[in-house]
Amino acid sequence: MSDFNIRPYNSTDKDHVYNICLQTGESGKDATHLFTDPLVLGHIYAGPYMEYEPQSVFILNDENGLCGYIMGTMNSNAFYDWMYKDWFPAVRNNYNQPTGEPSKWNRTEKTVNILFQPMSNKLFKDYPAHLHIDLLPRAQGQGQGKLMMDHYITHLKQNNIKGVHLELSITNERAFNFYRKYGMDELEQDDDSIYMGLYI
Ligand SMILES: CC(C)(COP(=O)(O)OP(=O)(O)OC[C@H]1O[C@@H](n2cnc3c(N)ncnc32)[C@H](O)[C@@H]1OP(=O)(O)O)[C@@H](O)C(=O)NCCC(=O)NCCS
Repeated sequence: MSDFNIRPYNSTDKDHVYNICLQTGESGKDATHLFTDPLVLGHIYAGPYMEYEPQSVFILNDENGLCGYIMGTMNSNAFYDWMYKDWFPAVRNNYNQPTGEPSKWNRTEKTVNILFQPMSNKLFKDYPAHLHIDLLPRAQGQGQGKLMMDHYITHLKQNNIKGVHLELSITNERAFNFYRKYGMDELEQDDDSIYMGLYI
């Protein structure tokens, strides 16, 4: 049985966090083989949180190093505002917007294109915070996800936040069942995603 511990993020964790984001980026499974650029997924789903609100990023460690994270923001509205005004323009300097027929784009091109789009993220008034949680396979199924959620919710409570939401892929059945078990309610669903929320 591994010895896990949850600790605050520090900036030397950044590359490992990007790797975990990629290794869990295909509906919770490894997405490494799907991307010719290993960073773009992290630039959207991990990097901005570490930059904007590092105090809301927590790391799961075991004896072999980093094996998971939970991260997010307490104020999704302000966060997305910053992400689209400051973060994406800076990241775009490293990429060209894909051209040609979108249906022929590969996964990297589809993801790079997100950097060039106007804001489309959903906001939920009663659930101002949001979160992402990703554990490597060696850390899954041992109660660590629940402990990470507890840790994050405590952090939100300490900051007087009353509700948190998240988005997950419609195909990530394992995560959906995990969040339901944790007490989250389904808020909305579209072709690609399910949105869930929790009052805290
Ligand atoms: C989804 C994830 C965060 C869950 O964390 P986990 O550590 O594997 O789950 P836990 O072991 O903490 O499970 C907590 C509880 O949920 C239950 N649970 C977990 N997965 C479940 C499932 N698929 N169906 C039903 N219950 C489930 C567990 O049985 C456990 O219940 P218990 O406390 O009564 O024993 C983790 O598996 C993960 O990071 N997966 C890959 C990345 C991912 O999909 N992230 C989410 C993207 S939206």
